[in-house]
Amino acid sequence: MALLEILEYPDPRLRTVAAPVAKVDDAVRKLADDMLETMYAAPGIGLAATQVDVHQRLLVIDISEDRSDPLVLINPEIVTQSGTVKGDEGCLSVPEIYEAVERAECIRVKAINRAGESFELDAEGLLAVCIQHEMDHLEGKLFVDYLSEMKRQRLKKKLAKARKRDLGVTPQQAL
Ligand code: NI
Repeated sequence: MALLEILEYPDPRLRTVAAPVAKVDDAVRKLADDMLETMYAAPGIGLAATQVDVHQRLLVIDISEDRSDPLVLINPEIVTQSGTVKGDEGCLSVPEIYEAVERAECIRVKAINRAGESFELDAEGLLAVCIQHEMDHLEGKLFVDYLSEMKRQRLKKKLAKARKRDLGVTPQQAL
């Protein structure tokens, strides 16, 4: 297994719309395993292939507390949805930022698992939110897109500052 690099906002590659996975083969299974390892190491509870610059419809999730319940969704589609819920979301591609986003409360999702079998899953609460967030990534959409323009500009500045801090560069040095 290997750790993959996670793209960070506002990287334009995060805007790519992912193509359906044509066949679940060993390469796809390896991608899922590498994505899980990358997600656990980050640490995060969900990761879409878009975030590791692979533009295929695949996402991984584990919302369990002891990180023992990996879920792989290939070519996921929302079949039905109901209710609305609004809660703070974060994203591995938008580090250190948490903002409230409105989502469907309950969803039924159809997808293919890592064995290549089709299945349906009913999700609510955090799992439902996480699936919707990751499916947005496959459309090239980020949770910050739901925020006002003013809030988004503030976030961009905050992220730029955080990056300079990480690089040990003072604002005066950065051009
Ligand atoms: Ni995300």
